[in-house]
Amino acid sequence: MSMDATETGVVEEAAASFDGTPDARTRQVLQAVTRHLHALVRELRPTQREWEQAVDFLTAVGHACTPTRQEFVLLSDVLGISTLVETINTDPRGTQGTVLGPFHMTESPRRALGDTIDLIGTGTPCVVTGRVTDETGAPVPGASLDVWQCDEHGFYDVQRPDEQPPGNGRGLFTADEHGRFRFRTVVPSHYPIPTDGPVGGLLQAARRHPYRPAHIHLIAEAPGMRPLTTHLFVADSPYIDGDAVFAVKSGLIVEFTEVADPDEARRHGVPSPFRHADFPVRLTREDA
Ligand SMILES: [Fe+2]
Repeated sequence: MSMDATETGVVEEAAASFDGTPDARTRQVLQAVTRHLHALVRELRPTQREWEQAVDFLTAVGHACTPTRQEFVLLSDVLGISTLVETINTDPRGTQGTVLGPFHMTESPRRALGDTIDLIGTGTPCVVTGRVTDETGAPVPGASLDVWQCDEHGFYDVQRPDEQPPGNGRGLFTADEHGRFRFRTVVPSHYPIPTDGPVGGLLQAARRHPYRPAHIHLIAEAPGMRPLTTHLFVADSPYIDGDAVFAVKSGLIVEFTEVADPDEARRHGVPSPFRHADFPVRLTREDA
């Protein structure tokens, strides 16, 4: 061990300190993180004060986390890392994946096909339909679809517990024997990501806007298939070309078409006119 660390000597010494890590993947991660962080610090050459500011920032991100708010996910999102991880893990034969976002709750209320996820009754009525297939186009019967979205003002239930009942804008559905699913909702709004925490401060310092185009989140899962985490983006939404978290992919932009047919509205159990979005979901086999 060297007693007099040089800029490049210390990185080798620190990386080598993990040589004995028994698990190969853990060893690879620890050594890569060490090397990349050293390279970053050698590039930026922070003062001691700047280094303390960096530690304070990450500390503040941790303190901002609660059971219903994940500031670290938000940080990953605004740096484009969440989208990068999804992109690396997307199977090109299936529907494109995109970020989970900070507002997912593991327990969306279970609902029957055709039910509404809108518990308030304001906003533009909307029907979402789709069909889950595998990579060959064959239906995936009984696939589960966990959906969640903000209301027409751009807020999720957990952000406005005084105005929205828990579970508003959320539903866990099971596709029918043909892989089909449908639910009623309201057209979601574009919205700003939370700006009252340290990630908001970062955006402010960079003069970046915090807005995301309107979208509905969706996780589709079925036994033997790779889980898919994605969004449907509302095609005519503001910010569709400038998502603050870089999550828009062309295959996920869906027309929310206005339907002014009272018979169709009656059939779906919504007022007329309403908007209709159809979103085919293609899953891929885990072993393929
Ligand atoms: Fe969202």
